[in-house]
Amino acid sequence: MKKLISASLMCADLTKISESVAQLEAAGTDYLHLDIMDGSFVPNITLGFDIVNAIKEITDIPLDVHMMVNEPGRFIDRMNLDKNDILCVHYESDIHIHRTLSQIKNKGVKAGLALNPQTPLECMEYLTDYMDMALIMTVSPGFAGQKLFAGAERKTAAARKMLDELGHADMPIEVDGNISPENGRKLSRCGADIFVLGTSSLFIKGKDMAESAAEFRANL
Ligand code: DX5
Ligand code: ZN
Repeated sequence: MKKLISASLMCADLTKISESVAQLEAAGTDYLHLDIMDGSFVPNITLGFDIVNAIKEITDIPLDVHMMVNEPGRFIDRMNLDKNDILCVHYESDIHIHRTLSQIKNKGVKAGLALNPQTPLECMEYLTDYMDMALIMTVSPGFAGQKLFAGAERKTAAARKMLDELGHADMPIEVDGNISPENGRKLSRCGADIFVLGTSSLFIKGKDMAESAAEFRANL
């Protein structure tokens, strides 16, 4: 599977967001990763639906929306996404996650299912037919600048094996949190396909994003 990069927009300079998006376009970013938080599912609040819709208007890069929100099904219709975009929800955030994944797919948008570090992989097992992507959180969600969790490689490799065995060899695995070039390379070898790039690799003060993105790809 082709290895793809998804730039975490919460790590960009929010005072000039359209310039950052233009730079990410020039850098050949495959997705823009937008973190939506509610201050309850995770102890932080970052981007919201209006930003998602505004970004959608200014770029053709597909969006990769990561909802860290309780009962995300309440908000799915607030975003103007299309068939190239991914809307990712957390297993832990919703008792009826199967219904919510179906809701996303019925809207014609790709559905992603995210798991926090401690959540067993088996939680995905009966849901894979309703998913277009698996998101393995490699830090506890909520903040940039954290350290990779110790089980990240083992869990990514186990996720790849499980998806392959269930007949989903073509389903991408995304990894999110502390994806430095070194961690990206390790996780790529475990079967990760989409890499969320934040402060660990792409948004580095004084360094050109196109250069950082190219270095990251070359190092995979
Ligand atoms: C987590 C977010 C970002 C991302 C930032 O859901 O997508 O916080 O992890 O990247 P790092 O961890 O490199 O700062
Ligand atoms: Zn994220």
